Amino acid sequence: MQIKTVGVLGCGLMGAGIAQVCAATGHRTIVREVQQTLLDKGLGRIRKFLDDGVTKGKATAESRDATLSNLTGTTTFDALADCDLIVEAIVENLAEKKAVYAALEPIIKPKTIIVSNTSSLCITELAASTKRPDRFGGLHFFNPVPIMKLVEVIRALTTSDEAYQSLMVFATALGKEPITAPDRPGFIVNRLLVPYLLDAIRAYEHGLGTLEDIDKGMKLGCGYPMGPFTLLDFVGLDTTYYIADIMFEEFRDAAYAPPPLLKRMVLAGYLGRKSGRGFYTYQQS
Ligand code: 3HC
Repeated sequence: MQIKTVGVLGCGLMGAGIAQVCAATGHRTIVREVQQTLLDKGLGRIRKFLDDGVTKGKATAESRDATLSNLTGTTTFDALADCDLIVEAIVENLAEKKAVYAALEPIIKPKTIIVSNTSSLCITELAASTKRPDRFGGLHFFNPVPIMKLVEVIRALTTSDEAYQSLMVFATALGKEPITAPDRPGFIVNRLLVPYLLDAIRAYEHGLGTLEDIDKGMKLGCGYPMGPFTLLDFVGLDTTYYIADIMFEEFRDAAYAPPPLLKRMVLAGYLGRKSGRGFYTYQQS
């Protein structure tokens, strides 16, 4: 099935990025938030990225305007009735995701595919909660979505070949490079990335070096774009803790166990860039 109209649920960091990329690649895109203030904030973030792109000479004013003309915001489900694909990027909460699918299903077309951008929840469980488990899958994007080239395409046990193929074609149409990832916690990238980040915290707790030196070591010694603590702050310590916890629950392997320091930082509200303080401190804009 060719995907022309896309509905994006959630206009937070990931949802806004996904909506932007969909609109920029010529898809009619409708992004839904629960409240107008959250919607305005998300749409504002998209506009700023596009304006910055024009200023930096990365995009033209015409391409920015074309992207914005493909994009509309809504706070209703009814506005998503014509979508060929729904990309859900709301909070990582199983009950809330299930509630949103239940509210949407009577409104959208029978053929419409639903995908979740979850980074940790079980796609097969999400699929099984809907009346279309064969037209349900995972599309996992990476932050910052407009820049990162990768999309993980995840098949639930129930995802049909047709829906899976449509998702692979769609990810490519977004200008992304898709890979097929198994429906296991962490998929491919977080399965490897999260133990590395957790190990960096444990090593720091054991006195391996300063935050700055460990970051510099991995950045300059391995060519990584960010050291582990800069990346932890970028991803969010709460998000990392949440993913690690789910991976530990499933695998019962110490490599995925959230280190005590991570848990305490989350409890203290030190969530990384978004809260102004994580392993480093940040100026709030
Ligand atoms: N419009 C168009 N292009 C833009 C732009 C804009 N507004 N802003 C930036 N860009 C382009 C830049 O021009 C540049 O392109 P170039 O390489 O062709 O010159 C590129 O995007 C990078 O931008 P910057 O130069 O401004 O920034 P940096 O070079 O400092 O890179 C970064 C920033 C891309 C975030 C880089 O540090 C990075 O890759 N960090 C790692 C990010 C990462 O690992 N993300 C994954 C996290 S895990 C995840 O998301 C999974 C989840 O489940 C937890």
